Amino acid sequence: MRIVQFSDLHLISAAEGRSWGADVWGNLRRALAHVQSELGNVDLLVLTGDLVNQRRAETYARLRDAVSGWTDKLHVLPGNHDDREMVRAAFGDRLLLDSPSLNFVTMLGAFRLIGLDTLRPWRVHGYLGKTQLAWLEQELARSSAPALLFMHHPPIRVGTWWLDKDLLRDHEQFRRVVEKGPVRAIFTGHVHQESTGHFASAQVFTTPSTAYQFNPRSLMPASRFHGPPTFRVIDLDDERIDTRVVRL
Ligand SMILES: [Fe+2]
Ligand SMILES: [Fe+2]
Repeated sequence: MRIVQFSDLHLISAAEGRSWGADVWGNLRRALAHVQSELGNVDLLVLTGDLVNQRRAETYARLRDAVSGWTDKLHVLPGNHDDREMVRAAFGDRLLLDSPSLNFVTMLGAFRLIGLDTLRPWRVHGYLGKTQLAWLEQELARSSAPALLFMHHPPIRVGTWWLDKDLLRDHEQFRRVVEKGPVRAIFTGHVHQESTGHFASAQVFTTPSTAYQFNPRSLMPASRFHGPPTFRVIDLDDERIDTRVVRL
């Protein structure tokens, strides 16, 4: 079983325009083409937030078109740059519509995959809130299958001060829920860089951006570089997890 995670696409409304100098649409097309031609059978494509740079409905619609070949294998989560209702309008059929937040739950092989919505409107930091944490606790109690969590904001620091001040704000409450469940790994975006760490019994993997990267340990806020479009591949074999980052 193979999952591909794209994060922090930061798409703009102009099809040919650049964002911070990066050809964000071109990068997304390159990444999608690579997945299709080089990665064999992919069971799921998960987009972990910051889908767009500015909240515009037409940008989401264009993204929806760009990933139209993935409709039944696609999951979408919002990040701090996103508008929850615009994401719901564009991708509603891939989301749990009875939930105020944009979550998902699905089985893949032996694993349960759970998507969490950490968007707090107009704030940079992430937040899950009591309702979603109660929902997660219930979901984790429902099955003993090992769980993989997907979310935009990491619950732990990555070592870059200006990013670390805006991580998941209610991480202690989140930790108390994760400690109770069979969570094996947490895959996030937001920090535009690769890092690994531990959170309760889970391993945390942050994934670079398909658009542009932030300089690890940089002292200057928003210090970024273009680099190649980058994404993550997660292979599940029985109960084993193998993951790597692909830089094009
Ligand atoms: Fe981002
Ligand atoms: Fe973000």
